[in-house]
Amino acid sequence: MKTPSFSLLSLLIVSLFSISWVVSADSHEDFLQCLSLHSQNSSSISKVTYTANNSSYSSILQFSIQNLRFNSSETPKPLVIVTPTHESHIQTTIYCSKNHGMQIRVRSGGHDYEGLSYVSPIPFVVIDLINLNSITVDTESNTAWVETGATVGELYYRIAEKSRTLAFPLGVCPTVGVGGHISGGGYGLMLRKHIMAADHVIDARIIDVNGKILDRESMGEDLFWAIRGGGGASFGVILSWKINLVTVPSTVTVFTVHRTLEQNATKLVHRWQSIAHKFDENLFIRILIRRVNTTYQGQNRTTIQASFNSLYLGGADELIQLMQESFPELGLVKEDCIEMSWIESTLYFAGFPSGSSLDVLLDRTPLSRRYFKAKSDYVKEPISEKGLEGIWERFYEEEAAAAELIFSPYGGRMNEVSETAIPFPHRAGNLYKIQHLVYWDEEGTEAYERHVSWIRRLYRYMTPYVSKNPRTAYINYRDLDIGVNNKGNTSYIQASIWGIKYFKGNFNRLVHVKTMVDPANFFKNEQSIPALSSWGKKKK
Ligand code: FDA
Repeated sequence: MKTPSFSLLSLLIVSLFSISWVVSADSHEDFLQCLSLHSQNSSSISKVTYTANNSSYSSILQFSIQNLRFNSSETPKPLVIVTPTHESHIQTTIYCSKNHGMQIRVRSGGHDYEGLSYVSPIPFVVIDLINLNSITVDTESNTAWVETGATVGELYYRIAEKSRTLAFPLGVCPTVGVGGHISGGGYGLMLRKHIMAADHVIDARIIDVNGKILDRESMGEDLFWAIRGGGGASFGVILSWKINLVTVPSTVTVFTVHRTLEQNATKLVHRWQSIAHKFDENLFIRILIRRVNTTYQGQNRTTIQASFNSLYLGGADELIQLMQESFPELGLVKEDCIEMSWIESTLYFAGFPSGSSLDVLLDRTPLSRRYFKAKSDYVKEPISEKGLEGIWERFYEEEAAAAELIFSPYGGRMNEVSETAIPFPHRAGNLYKIQHLVYWDEEGTEAYERHVSWIRRLYRYMTPYVSKNPRTAYINYRDLDIGVNNKGNTSYIQASIWGIKYFKGNFNRLVHVKTMVDPANFFKNEQSIPALSSWGKKKK
């Protein structure tokens, strides 16, 4: 963790921002010249600046691309990639981008579902934070400072190095970056007990549009509120988070129980919907739904499988007792349960074989790279058995061979937090969240269109069963189908189409914060928060 105070270097760079900027469409050679001219340590910034002429440009760009949809020859590429090793490199890149009409895309772990951290339709530079990933865990105060280039796995690992009973409620995939993940809310299998990751942020450091490094005190409570769930990319470059760690028991229990349609899956899923949000808050049982080939009564058949995948913050005996009281229909037995430490459970849920070394958490190489499209929904009333059967029917279609639905239960402590505490608004009143996913392996437009059309049809089918007015969505499951900003000036009306779905009533406060901190709308993308100046324009 870098010292959270202004260095002389930073001050010198900030002073550059007092010069008013001219946005022009200069070529990127001028931009590169600007970088070296205005960098206080030009040799060091040139060492971390890459253009298509550099032999390592493609490998750096591709390294953290998770979704193959954005790794084709047609995908627009950045003119320049900067992989800062010092915060001043970011300040210089912001300054020069403003002066040379370049857009900035900030990449932490590169897992954005729509590639917004490394793809843009207009000339752009990627600030790839891969080198700013240090983590300092303090077991006296049970807090940590985490640079935003770190991944979920790196944070899990560094916490476990210090303690087996401290943890942090992040997501399942270790290669996700904490920059995008926490700024969009961030949740994992401890959601019902330890709520969202962003709920535990107690300080942060950000570089604003003027190149200033701000902490919680100097940025003020409005901006500090906005970056904890409002998506970081609209407000500046977040450098680091200070988080409160949570405590976990030394033994937790995991299980995954599969049930096919022939094993009563429809009735079990139907029942789960009415009870999973009321379980003891230490118990999280999600359901993964897929099409599988199986053998039933000696015959091969294709069926739908619901996998009940669970983390219990406690021992197996307690869990069995709880399950007998609250969900006996599942028929969970002790042999289904595996006791382990919490850190081992992160490996289990990420799909690593039992006995794997914790070192796998430090490997930033994405676990799998496929083409995919995802969408999200929130459910407030149980879907009828007939409604569920309509979903299963769609899973028999050809395009759904590698499709998946993930139902994640809400309730527990999620009910205790106000919708306005942070921009992430999806709290009480939700039974569960659905993530719709479709994967495919064939290149090209035809395969893309078939699979995306399948998931859009499924999403249309779900309309009567999910939240309405607005039909809400989770920003970390980015979906450009629900609305995008207009090109050029971002209008409030256009942005509110998607903004209300992600943020409900918090969208307007995000717009006010954006207007205060970035009135000229420098930090923008297809789903960035608009500034009120653009709101004014829509009224003309
Ligand atoms: P990436 O680097 O692509 O950034 C995402 C967005 O944040 C971009 O707009 C980017 O510009 C911005 N950003 C990133 N760093 C920034 C910074 N320092 N300052 C300002 N802006 C910044 N989610 C979840 O809640 N629970 C889960 O279990 C999972 N699991 C999961 C598995 C897999 C395989 C994937 C691909 C994704 C998930 N997610 C998830 C979703 C994940 O939380 C979401 O995609 C995050 O935005 C990814 O963060 P990255 O930093 O990796 O993305």
